[in-house]
Amino acid sequence: MPFFHNAPGSGLLVLVAACATTSSMKLEPSDNALKQAVEILGRGGLVAFPTETVYGLGADATSDGAVAAVFAAKARPQFNPLIAHVANLQAAQQVVEFSEAALKLATRFWPGPLTLVLPRRAGCAVSLLASAGLDDLAVRVPAHPVAQALLAAFGRPVVAPSANRSGRVSPTTAQHVADDFDDEIELIMDAGACALGVESTVIGFEQGAPILLRPGALPRAEIEAVVGPLGSADASGRITSPGQLISHYAPSLPLRLGVEAVQSGEALLAFGGTPLVGAVRTLNLSVAGDDKEAAANLFAFLRTLDAQPATGIAVMTVPNVGLGEAINDRLRRAAAPRPASPE
Ligand code: TXA
Ligand code: MG
Repeated sequence: MPFFHNAPGSGLLVLVAACATTSSMKLEPSDNALKQAVEILGRGGLVAFPTETVYGLGADATSDGAVAAVFAAKARPQFNPLIAHVANLQAAQQVVEFSEAALKLATRFWPGPLTLVLPRRAGCAVSLLASAGLDDLAVRVPAHPVAQALLAAFGRPVVAPSANRSGRVSPTTAQHVADDFDDEIELIMDAGACALGVESTVIGFEQGAPILLRPGALPRAEIEAVVGPLGSADASGRITSPGQLISHYAPSLPLRLGVEAVQSGEALLAFGGTPLVGAVRTLNLSVAGDDKEAAANLFAFLRTLDAQPATGIAVMTVPNVGLGEAINDRLRRAAAPRPASPE
């Protein structure tokens, strides 16, 4: 069956055969797409699918080969563990041990943009590769109906890192996924743009106390209202999230943060009602200064500005409240000095 594919970068609509080996198949959600996705996962293949945060690169979490294929496709360092996605709390309880605080959080926020890092249960079916040698496993129950349908139909945990090449900007549309990969992903389930736009908040525990490992789409204040103040990974010194590499989410162009004036040749990532002037191209995260709107726009706007003939991307200050904490975390990493060679 032939289908139309938007060739990355060219802007041209070209006709390609479904058996082409240079691009992934994109399908909108349907019973047939779901059936194909389950079949591909079942034989160890890779399926990208939407969640409410970003698109995930899914594989059978119980298969060493499938999990290894995820690391290979992303060129992800083996020390950076993956999140196992499951359909509900009961399925999560089969693979990890819940403390009282973890149970409170899961009951309150699942399904939703919260990842919990918990001790693996004895006999946990999830591949040890997903934990990257740690005793803990990250688990999440996503809320997106397509993710929910896929997890329910597959019936096993699915590892799903963000569907971008390691170190690059996370994908919030199916086209972003297609732009980053060739034929490594057999099927991309295309359900449009992700509603939240930044990844899940990752919480670990140290002696029962919750630690914020990655700020994300569930704001700190909502979590603290349930379990009290969150510890920080840096302060504890022992527990860390290996994925919190300094340089991450990096566009090709250099980023300048907290700018008060645009320099010649720069593109501008603006925020609020009075954007700076003088940029070669301006995209405004939120004219109204709304943190949720800004988070939803962040990665798509970074990708678009990165494609401009500009010398760099100037970024206006985003207040560190609500989702601003996650936005600023991503921007700091996007602006950090890049490793000499890919991680
Ligand atoms: O919103 C999300 O979380 C998306 C969607 C697809 O669900 N997934 C995602 O996965 O962002 P990834 O692999 O890009 O980020 C997972 C983060 C990394 O920072 C990783 O280091 C951390 O979670 N993590 C995973 N397992 C961990 C573990 N056992 N201990 C500590 N940190 C862990
Ligand atoms: Mg990621």
